[in-house]
Amino acid sequence: GKVCLAYSGGLDTSVILAWLLEQGYEVIAFMANIGQEEDFEAARAKALKIGASKYVLVDVRKEFIEKILYPAIQVNGIYENVYLLGTSLARPVIAKAQMKVAKQENCFAVSHGCTGKGNDQVRFELSFYALNPNVKVIAPWRDPEFIKRFSGRKDLLNYAGQKNIHVEQTAAKPWSTDENLAHISFEAGILEDPNTTPPKDMWKLTVDPVDAPDVPEDIEIHYKQGVPEKLVYTENNATVEVTDPVDLFTTANKLARRNGVGRIDIVENRFIGIKSRGCYETPGLTILRSAHIDLEGLTLDREVRSIRDLFVTPTYSKLLYNGMYFTPEFEYVKSMIAPSQVTVNGVVKASLYKGSFIVRGRFSATEKLYDETESSMDELTGFSPQDATGFIAVQSIRIKKYGESKKEKGID
Ligand code: ARG
Ligand code: SIN
Repeated sequence: GKVCLAYSGGLDTSVILAWLLEQGYEVIAFMANIGQEEDFEAARAKALKIGASKYVLVDVRKEFIEKILYPAIQVNGIYENVYLLGTSLARPVIAKAQMKVAKQENCFAVSHGCTGKGNDQVRFELSFYALNPNVKVIAPWRDPEFIKRFSGRKDLLNYAGQKNIHVEQTAAKPWSTDENLAHISFEAGILEDPNTTPPKDMWKLTVDPVDAPDVPEDIEIHYKQGVPEKLVYTENNATVEVTDPVDLFTTANKLARRNGVGRIDIVENRFIGIKSRGCYETPGLTILRSAHIDLEGLTLDREVRSIRDLFVTPTYSKLLYNGMYFTPEFEYVKSMIAPSQVTVNGVVKASLYKGSFIVRGRFSATEKLYDETESSMDELTGFSPQDATGFIAVQSIRIKKYGESKKEKGID
């Protein structure tokens, strides 16, 4: 039978491809262009050389941006206060494209290179089953025969050597990486000691902040209903404006990259219950998200923001991290994002400087929630300060009672 393998061109899936062939399957190598810096022609050649009967490349960048990255920015998505969800964001789009290819190619099964200890197996497989409840999944890293043969990355490297499969990884740099338009992840190898500082040459999508230019780079980001629609910067003394969605993200990545913005190092809690150490680069998304948070200060209603921050953002982030994209609860939570963003219209001016994103100002031509006169410490007009006396008096009724009872009980 035919199997559709999510092929990355890397070590694991190249070995898995060869192994599936050994098991007697015909293999369709599926690859998504999700904005990773990749030589797709080389990947095609490699898959075909190993023995795939076909290589299918699907460009999902636009869908990734519009269906996933826009809402992630609008909701300020973040996991455990640090991780911008880069890998989690990409999985639903990749899984959907893979299921489509599997169907077109009449595959009875789909396969992937995720380990049996991680999040990605859960994300991919829950997505597969949601999209085709009858699909069969081949997960080599959980197959007793496969793991008897390959107990770890060293065995993979040996096998690749035997089979003449060219791989980027070496024994000294055996990173497991995952890359897309929003980020790259690094895990495994020496990073598994959480106290080991990643080597300087591991990082790929950002320059070391120490080596970034000594002059801040000024940018301007325009948002419409919380979605970035224009990025303005200066190149060779000329003002450049970018509006095409793919260009906008690519440019945001370029600007953040050369200024060293977007590095993350975290020990996180995986869904299955183990802790893991990951190093990530999220250049463009870091600045688009940070500027968005700033603009919400100027344009978003206090109580809408509060409900969104307390409930929608953490729930959205956790469900996405746990691979629950194609679920009723995720669809419900996602539907709460757009209505919160109706007033998030305006421009943020910022600088990128040696790893930092620094806001220089913000402006909205349409939203009037912020009133300079009302907020001013130099003006007594706007609203009557005397009214605040009653506001405080009423607020204090309950608090006075609480203070009194503590005093009576002798509690400090
Ligand atoms: N720990 C991160 C996450 O769970 C990154 C996973 C990277 N995945 C990979 N196949 N290399 O989202
Ligand atoms: C993997 O285990 O395949 C990568 C890491 C993860 O999925 O969490």
